[in-house]
Amino acid sequence: MDHFDYRGGVLHCESLDVPALAQRFGTPLYVYSHQTLVDHYQRFRDAFAQLDATVCFSVKSCHNLAILDLLKAQGSAFDVVSGGELSRVLEIGADPKRIVFAGVGKSDDDIRMALDAGIGWFNAESEAELDNIADIATRQGATAQIALRINPDVDPHTHRYTTTGTRETKFGVDLERARRIFRDFADRPGLDLAGIHLHIGSPVNTVEPYVACVTKALSLIDELRADGHAIRAINVGGGFGAHYDGSEAPAASAYAEQIVPLLCGRDLEVLLEPGRSIAANAGVLVARTLYTKTSGDRQFVIVDGSITDLIRPALYGAFHFAWPVAPRAGLTPPQRRADLNLPGTTVVDIVGPVCESGDFLAKDRHLPHLQRGDLIAIFSTGAYGFVMSSQYNSRPRAAEVLVHGDDAKVIRRRETYDDLVAAERFVTSYPSHAAPKKTP
Ligand code: LLP
Repeated sequence: MDHFDYRGGVLHCESLDVPALAQRFGTPLYVYSHQTLVDHYQRFRDAFAQLDATVCFSVKSCHNLAILDLLKAQGSAFDVVSGGELSRVLEIGADPKRIVFAGVGKSDDDIRMALDAGIGWFNAESEAELDNIADIATRQGATAQIALRINPDVDPHTHRYTTTGTRETKFGVDLERARRIFRDFADRPGLDLAGIHLHIGSPVNTVEPYVACVTKALSLIDELRADGHAIRAINVGGGFGAHYDGSEAPAASAYAEQIVPLLCGRDLEVLLEPGRSIAANAGVLVARTLYTKTSGDRQFVIVDGSITDLIRPALYGAFHFAWPVAPRAGLTPPQRRADLNLPGTTVVDIVGPVCESGDFLAKDRHLPHLQRGDLIAIFSTGAYGFVMSSQYNSRPRAAEVLVHGDDAKVIRRRETYDDLVAAERFVTSYPSHAAPKKTP
């Protein structure tokens, strides 16, 4: 599953023990395993090798430059959704032709920047967007290669905030409209409308929704081809599961087993956009216990990590397994499951210092005794963890460390109080900045 294991009663990431990392780099701290990222990327690549699929790592899930760079070294292509993400992948020297740009609201600047860079594909989501890309591209003397994102009306059975492929979401266009769009935009200068893009939601822990949406996309492609449109590519999107509560996610090979036969021999370039399935299990968030407290019948463990570091539990009610890094009495978890209830544990909530009742990382957990100074690991936080962090309550963002064997490198330094105000310092009109009054 990953390279985080309890050895001698202490959590290790690859060959390094996590308490030593926390001691060296401070907390809250994101710790990533290089080998887990590599393993998960390779499993995807290998599972879809028969199609020679282009695996475009979804940058939104984990955007640290060092992590993007190590995935690039493995051969990964990239899926971006903003000028900011595009600038990250250009900074690591990614091949622009192997960048796909998705998102319902690309700004003119985003589009210009992507055309200048010469990216491989735009995933476009509406007629208005196509109009705009065509205008900008013709002005720049460029042609944008486009995959139209369709909304296949398939329910991925996931959280409503991360469901994207059902009929009335803001994403994609329905199949009827897709046919019209191909008719209306096929000959539009500046556009090369040549692909179909899908992404139905995330995480999708069963394979059936993929089978359903790829099947619908393929019949659309057959119709479009029959109408004379040269469709060259299908992008199946991301959404593949990760392990949060036990081993609930199908393996990359299980998804591939059912998706590959549908696409074999179709004369289509195949692209995928996995993010979570590569990064989630490759990271843990390590926090330190500040205080313990009892309120009524509830027991709280107050740690130095908070919703500003990991918002998923508050935003989606997401479950992340949490366990002490060096549990007392050597009580190590046999599995990382929500229903784990070992003898010698008590029920606690793990909460942060932020002034919101929604600031919790874990609720109602059977945990070994924790006291001031004890470290706790929040697992499966490599995807949509640090990237969704904020500075709310003027909390500097955590540091990120990448472990490779017995080596640990800081890949993002902890933010400072200076970082918090750096973008505001240029303002010189505060009363306290005014020139001192001359005394008569
Ligand atoms: N492609 C597109 C067009 C997407 O919208 C997404 C994710 C992906 C690929 C990558 O999906 P993945 O393989 O990582 O599941 N913040 C939420 C997840 C939002 C996903 C948004 N789109 C969370 O923490 O669960």
